[in-house]
Amino acid sequence: MIKKMIGALMLVSAFASCTKDNEYDLSQNSNNTCDTTAVSYANTVANIMANNCNSCHSGSNPSGGVVTSTYVGLGNIYDAVLLGVINHSSGFSPMPSNAPKLSDCDINKIQAWINQGRLNN
Ligand code: HEC
Repeated sequence: MIKKMIGALMLVSAFASCTKDNEYDLSQNSNNTCDTTAVSYANTVANIMANNCNSCHSGSNPSGGVVTSTYVGLGNIYDAVLLGVINHSSGFSPMPSNAPKLSDCDINKIQAWINQGRLNN
C-alpha cells in the first residue's frame, strides 16, 4: 500500500513538473525583458554557443561528431534536435552535458533564431 502511494506521488510530481515547465516556457515567449528580435548567428547565437557548448563541440574531435562552433556545424543539427537538447526534452541528450540548462532567455533566443530562418548575419 505504502509503495503504491509513493509510486503514485512520484508519478504526480513528475507530471506536475512537466506541465509547469511548459507553462513557464509559454509565458517566457511574451516576456519583453528578453530581446528576441533580429537574432542572427553572428549577433547572438555564436556567443551562446561559445559560452555553453563549444568547449565540447569544436576542434578536431567534437563530442558526438556535433560542431556548435561554426554556422555550418550548427546547420547540420536539425531544428528538433537542437531544441530538444537545450530544452532537456525527453528522448534527447540534455545539453550542455552535465551542466545546468541554458537560461530561458538564451533558449528563447535560439528558438527565435530558428523561427526567423537561422540567419547568419
Ligand atoms: C561537457 C561537454 C558538453 C557540452 C558543454 C555540451 N555538449 Fe552536447 N554533447 C556532448 C556529448 C559527450 C555528446 C554525445 C553523447 C550524447 O549524445 O549524450 C553530445 C551530443 C550533442 C548533440 C547530439 C545529440 C543527439 O541526440 O544526437 C547535440 C545536438 C548537442 N550535443 C548539442 C549541444 C549544445 C547545443 C550544447 C550547448 C548548449 C552542448 N551540446 C554542450 C557533450 C557536451
